Amino acid sequence: MHMPAISPSEAPILDLQNVSAGYRRGGLLSPPQHPVLRDITLSVRRGEAMGLLGESGSGKSTLGRVILGLLPALSGTIRFDGQALPRSTGAAWRDLRRRIQVVFQDSNSTLHPAHTILWSLTEPMRIHGLGTPEEREARALAMLEDVGLEPGMARAMPKSLSGGQRQRVGIARALMLSPELIVADEPVSALDVSVQAQVLNLLKSVQQKHGLTILFISHDMPVVEAFCDRAAVMAKGELVEIGSPLELLRDPKTEATRRLCVVSN
Ligand SMILES: Nc1ncnc2c1ncn2[C@@H]1O[C@H](COP(=O)(O)OP(=O)(O)O)[C@@H](O)[C@H]1O
Ligand SMILES: [Mg+2]
Repeated sequence: MHMPAISPSEAPILDLQNVSAGYRRGGLLSPPQHPVLRDITLSVRRGEAMGLLGESGSGKSTLGRVILGLLPALSGTIRFDGQALPRSTGAAWRDLRRRIQVVFQDSNSTLHPAHTILWSLTEPMRIHGLGTPEEREARALAMLEDVGLEPGMARAMPKSLSGGQRQRVGIARALMLSPELIVADEPVSALDVSVQAQVLNLLKSVQQKHGLTILFISHDMPVVEAFCDRAAVMAKGELVEIGSPLELLRDPKTEATRRLCVVSN
């Protein structure tokens, strides 16, 4: 078959074609509810900060889960670096789990409350059987430095950290396995506005230093405007509009985008 020539830099790192997804009401054999996501088609370039913008309940986190392989798509295809994501979450996902990482709204969920920060930072390498204990610790300290935290923080317990520090640790943890794509689901939504700006700046510098692609999920237009190169607007499980934040603000084509822009003004 003849394929048009695409230079590697132009090939999308993440490519979704007509993706639908939903949750099952009961057990595995129960039929899925009506789809929460319908017919999502989206292409993300390598190195890009792509926003996923929409009001609460529009399906943003669900789409994040599908991309992370935590929820199977009902139909459609998702390609990561040209390779179709496996439907099952078994062994085929092992390598992908390393290359696609996540940062949650509250990194408490990824920090073990009874263990030090160092323990939680090195956990992904332990799970993947990477490095010696010394190598894991060295990597953790380097990542702490990258996110602007003192090395001494490695010995701290999660509960002694501020919200901003916890998000920095969450970002450091996501970096431990040198991922190519990070899904950041409302990464600054739980923080005070002044701390939001610091963590956004940090995430941007980390993105540039490590050449990361970031899928940045947010309900907050000013945050998306500050961070993203482009944004896709979601409403009721559908992707309704895509453009640069400035285009969306200046010339919203849909009611959903208009609402998100007005709320923030
Ligand atoms: N675990 C779940 N089981 C069933 N329905 C869910 C679950 N999580 C989310 N939903 C539903 O899916 C829709 C989209 O939710 P979500 O993806 O969390 O939206 P957002 O992240 O944009 O706020 C909502 O109607 C929500 O109630
Ligand atoms: Mg959400």
